[in-house]
Amino acid sequence: MKDIGSLPITPDFDLWPVTATPQIARAEQNALCIEWSDGRISRYHPFLLAENDPSPETLHPLSRETTLSPLDLPDDLAVTSAAIEAGGAVVVGWSHGRTESRFHPGWLLGNGWFGDRPDQGNAILWTAEEQSKPPTFDGPTALSDPKLFLSWLLALRDYGVARLENLPDQDGLLMRILDRIGPVRESNFGRMYTLEIKDDPDSNAFTSDALLQHIDMPTRECPHGLQFLFCRENTSLGGEGVYADAYRIAADLAVEEPEHFEALCEIEWTYNNRSKTSDYRAAGPVIERTESGRVTGIRYNTWLRAPLVASLEDQDRAYRSYRAFAARAQSPKYQMRFAYRPGDLLAFDNRRALHGRNGYDAAGGVRFIEGVYSDRDDLHSAIRSLERSLSQEMTA
Ligand SMILES: [Fe+2]
Repeated sequence: MKDIGSLPITPDFDLWPVTATPQIARAEQNALCIEWSDGRISRYHPFLLAENDPSPETLHPLSRETTLSPLDLPDDLAVTSAAIEAGGAVVVGWSHGRTESRFHPGWLLGNGWFGDRPDQGNAILWTAEEQSKPPTFDGPTALSDPKLFLSWLLALRDYGVARLENLPDQDGLLMRILDRIGPVRESNFGRMYTLEIKDDPDSNAFTSDALLQHIDMPTRECPHGLQFLFCRENTSLGGEGVYADAYRIAADLAVEEPEHFEALCEIEWTYNNRSKTSDYRAAGPVIERTESGRVTGIRYNTWLRAPLVASLEDQDRAYRSYRAFAARAQSPKYQMRFAYRPGDLLAFDNRRALHGRNGYDAAGGVRFIEGVYSDRDDLHSAIRSLERSLSQEMTA
């Protein structure tokens, strides 16, 4: 082992806990190989190591982004030696006379390949029986306690729907909460919209009618990832929210009606908005999945579908599978139902949690709900950043 030294910086601002320590480091043909204290072994390509070398020659010390082009490295670059410092940093020697590099062991561990990494997200799937109400947190406490705020965000990520309650009726509060997550993503309904009854509605949402379960913005190349509905006042009768976990519907279809599941993954529907002042169109399958089969998004909205231009055989397949999906979306088995109470802020994953509502009596009271959109990336970034700062606080 070499001398004890402080651990090198990493090519990012993340935290890299050293949950296992390197025991043996050696140069192999075309790789650095590390055997870890937990018995696992990982290998790193010379190009990967070189372009993540934290030395100031290859990494901008402020931005922590590499300054290298892939072609700056020799084609036959090789690791020629490897050693472990007493402090745990791994020192790599190079061919072509390159200066030695030092790597943080937590970064190497966190970026190690240890066999097949399962392609699964954090989603916790639910039916109405398993989850009768959204995970709910006290709003004022969450706004003053970063740990509880993080819990709300994690619930939103994992369940696809999460609620703050008891928030005060304040102008601008919704935007101030959004500021803590990420930028608002505007739409043809504006930066923020109010769910109200319009004389000349450009969406069924702006009527008092019941709304079938749907996602918003299926007319966009990438529909908005998150939606936030802040109920500031509600004395109307009816209008309860009806939510369903479309990932759960997809999972059940895959097992119980596989032919419909496959059709829903394959056949692309086009969606177009019906507005006199805009004309958005986009196409995609109802169920979006990765190559390994993980469901990553839903594009489902009954009243924004354009006519399907397809062979008769495909029309039949498309409609039968769409009806199979609708039968579940409209089944009480999957429907979480609850009233919008003043002070409630509903946050949901617009590409996963179908939302709808019962009709309401427009003449019987006031209903004031503000809405904004954002994206999943903003949520995930906010979660990682908050976890990082809370972890730093704990170790400070
Ligand atoms: Fe909607």
